[in-house]
Amino acid sequence: MRSITLLATLATSAISVALPWQSTTDADSGTQLPLVIWHGLGDDFEREGLAQVAELAESTNPGTYVHLIRLANDGSGDRSATFLGNVTEQIALLAADPILSTAPAINALGFSQGGQFLRGYIERCNTPPVHNLVTFGSQHNGISEFESCAYTNWVCKAAEALLRSGRWTSFAQSRVVPAQYFRDPEELDLYLENSNFLADINNEREAKNETYKRNLASLNRFAMYMFEEDTVAVPKESAFFSEVNATTGEITPLHERPIYKEDWLGLKQLGEQGKLDFNTAPGQHMELSDKILRKAFERYFAPLKESHLSAPGLVVQQRSL
Ligand SMILES: *[C@@H]1O[C@H](CO)[C@@H](O)[C@H](O)[C@H]1NC(C)=O
Ligand SMILES: *[C@@H]1O[C@H](CO)[C@@H](O)[C@H](O)[C@H]1NC(C)=O
Ligand SMILES: *[C@@H]1O[C@H](CO)[C@@H](O)[C@H](O)[C@H]1NC(C)=O
Repeated sequence: MRSITLLATLATSAISVALPWQSTTDADSGTQLPLVIWHGLGDDFEREGLAQVAELAESTNPGTYVHLIRLANDGSGDRSATFLGNVTEQIALLAADPILSTAPAINALGFSQGGQFLRGYIERCNTPPVHNLVTFGSQHNGISEFESCAYTNWVCKAAEALLRSGRWTSFAQSRVVPAQYFRDPEELDLYLENSNFLADINNEREAKNETYKRNLASLNRFAMYMFEEDTVAVPKESAFFSEVNATTGEITPLHERPIYKEDWLGLKQLGEQGKLDFNTAPGQHMELSDKILRKAFERYFAPLKESHLSAPGLVVQQRSL
């Protein structure tokens, strides 16, 4: 509760000395890192469902300060930004978030596309550093189909039409969000040439970015959840970085792919240290139960014991206001 009051103070006062991000430390339970949540396509920070997730995070690990990422100041603008925009610019916006940038370290929770965007944040900036990253139904290896809009929303319909007809145009790649993580193994050349976001963030092009690899490898834990009955994100195995041949249905798991074997992203380092978790959740895309969420929060967002705080990824950064 204390941190929420401080946030309100920050919002209404120009003199912001007290920060909402002070990690809460308790001699018995340890240090509770703030939790940053990036929601999925068609959602917005004002949704009741997200408030419930935030409440669950707080009740599972008391003292958790939860920050819901927003790309606009109102719900409808935030929702539009899930369909329309340049993902590179959206991630840069997140990095400049005045609230986020004062945190010493955070945990991160990504729903659907929010998962690969948070990974992009980690790879490209990671200031403040992410301790544990948890993604639910994210498209780490892209989508090879765009399912009919689950939302009867003109923005989504417009985005869908663009994705079908002109996905590799610079128009779509700079404005239509799902186009920027579209990846069909049957048209890999076009993807490598034109993908504004995913090909870069997955270090699939010839020139590899070592910063991306170093930053992702600095995670304490990277947990991916796949929804067993997911028919919205195609293929669902993308949640685990697997590649699926749409003709044969053959699945090539992450550890058999060059991205892992040649360690383009630091995933192999993480895997060998036991820091990569592949979990499944029952049900359709984003059909989240409190039980699954609570277990995830207990497992990945619990308070840290002091010894963990000296880990390299968690050096507390001094910032001037
Ligand atoms: C790699 O990514 C970092 C962080 O985004 C960026 O500053 C740097 O210029 C990139 N390096 C190359 C070689 O593109
Ligand atoms: C997206 O934004 C970045 C940063 O402004 C820019 O460099 C890039 O060219 C844009 N992408 C496209 C496809 O226009
Ligand atoms: C998918 O499998 C078919 C049949 O074996 C093959 O011809 C095709 O090249 C495969 N696609 C990719 C992207 O590997």
